[in-house]
Amino acid sequence: MPADTSRLSFRDLDEGDLPALRAILQDPDAMVAYEGPFDDEEVRTWLVRQQDRYRTGLGLRAVVLRESGEMIGQCGLTIQHIAGADVLEVGYLFRPSAWHRGYATEAASAYLAEGFSTRDVDEIHAQVRDINIASMNVAIRLGMTVRTRFVKEYRGVTMPHLDFAITRDRFLELAEA
Ligand SMILES: CC(C)(COP(=O)(O)OP(=O)(O)OC[C@H]1O[C@@H](n2cnc3c(N)ncnc32)[C@H](O)[C@@H]1OP(=O)(O)O)[C@@H](O)C(=O)NCCC(=O)NCCS
Repeated sequence: MPADTSRLSFRDLDEGDLPALRAILQDPDAMVAYEGPFDDEEVRTWLVRQQDRYRTGLGLRAVVLRESGEMIGQCGLTIQHIAGADVLEVGYLFRPSAWHRGYATEAASAYLAEGFSTRDVDEIHAQVRDINIASMNVAIRLGMTVRTRFVKEYRGVTMPHLDFAITRDRFLELAEA
């Protein structure tokens, strides 16, 4: 788990986060790239999947505003199958009322640092659906570049995606700048 950033802290998601998770995963604007809001069962399945991933040290965690203790989003590292390979990926989803404040980039940046310091990987990726411009802009703010385009089947829909990534060397170079 990353250390606190200037505005954010991180912790495991639990059952008590279901209302905050619904504020993200059942919001039509937040879920455009996921082909629409989840139902209650899909939200619960999502939570259980993250909790399963915690056993390996991975998974999306709750992102909490230090000032208020409010859970405003999710961010973390997972293994994703991208363009034929299993890679370390940073994911980020925030409720709409927390957008446009730099929280996603602040959280994801902390997870890149965590990933490069705890995992023996040369690169960390971010898979972004081709319609998800806000997410692409986060990847770009993180210093990532596009590696390839690939297609993914999700919820019965064929979705073109871009594979963004940043190398360890580039991450360290940016962190020192
Ligand atoms: C993707 C997502 C997390 C991006 O959130 P975001 O708030 O746009 O991204 P950031 O946290 O990087 O915020 C950047 C914005 O905050 C602004 N900002 C304000 N205060 C800031 C600060 N102190 N520091 C940095 N940026 C700040 C920036 O100018 C920028 O503004 P803009 O969006 O108007 O250009 C959000 O759209 C989301 O949760 N979408 C739904 C889920 C999703 O699709 N996730 C990605 C799946 S691949």
